[in-house]
Amino acid sequence: MAMESKYIWMNGNLVPFEKATLHFLTPALHYGAAVFEGIRSYNTAKGAAVFRLQEHTERLFDSARVFGFREFPWTVAQVIEAIKQTVKVNEMNDCYVRPLLYLDEGGWNLTVDAGKPSLAIAVWDWSNYLGEEALAKGIRANISSFTRHHPNVSMTKAKVTGNYSNSFLAKTESMRLGFDEAIMLDPQGYVAECTGENLFIVRNGKVITPSTAPVLEGITRDSIFVIAKDLGYETLEQPVSRDMLYIADEVFICGTAAECVGLSEIDFRKIGEGKTGPVTRAIQNIFHDAIRGKVAKYEGWCNYVNESQPVKMPVSAKAAVS
Ligand SMILES: Cc1ncc(COP(=O)(O)O)c(C=O)c1O
Repeated sequence: MAMESKYIWMNGNLVPFEKATLHFLTPALHYGAAVFEGIRSYNTAKGAAVFRLQEHTERLFDSARVFGFREFPWTVAQVIEAIKQTVKVNEMNDCYVRPLLYLDEGGWNLTVDAGKPSLAIAVWDWSNYLGEEALAKGIRANISSFTRHHPNVSMTKAKVTGNYSNSFLAKTESMRLGFDEAIMLDPQGYVAECTGENLFIVRNGKVITPSTAPVLEGITRDSIFVIAKDLGYETLEQPVSRDMLYIADEVFICGTAAECVGLSEIDFRKIGEGKTGPVTRAIQNIFHDAIRGKVAKYEGWCNYVNESQPVKMPVSAKAAVS
């Protein structure tokens, strides 16, 4: 993966890639004290468009609030503009966008209050997270031996960097076992989500996904829900047990990085026909057109970088998170 770009946006400045470095004693590195977003920009007929930028930026603020940051030195509008500016100056239409709000001072007493948050935004070229074959053939997954976070241990609505040690444990184990992805169960034993994706099953024409109570409120999950409803499928949020996966007609996972990918096999059991199923395919096709601005009714999800409305920044006044 080539992660190089021309500039990384750091606290209001566009810093050349090789100069965008942090000190070893940045507390975020030692304690996972940072929150982030994973966003994609796609090339469309009207140039680069960042997908569901408003929702991703609002979730970044929500993550900050959940983690306990009381002050955020930027407004949602400014962060949106900064993201568009970063995509634009790097001249990358198809890219992954990574804003990170991190504790870069204080925090050694394990509180966010003694520290100071900084915001940085990077973009990089990232076309296909789970590989080219994944879309066509579907991928193989297993139920992880690692449980997903208890909602009162690590906050599951927040993309806190420290939370992702759980994803590292699960994904490393699954890959070493020869699978492509890990499915994690919640502390009650129901299906929660994957290491960086939400999960859906299709059974008897119904499109079902676990409730968001113990998982991340995925923005792709939301888009898929809208598309499935518009296609006329009955959509349900309900507890999903491990064995429901085995007898589902189709299982698919979705997330910003992975987009929408079918599962061909789980725990050595073939799912449906053992390849991406017809409902998954129908949803996947529309989703993949929507992200590129090709579906008129979903065009509102595309935030065109060239239509940017400059917002004054940096600001001196602090916008309160709480
Ligand atoms: C744990 C987890 N679940 C689900 C998702 C999917 O969320 P989204 O569709 O907003 O990318 C992600 C990715 O952000 C994730 O990290």
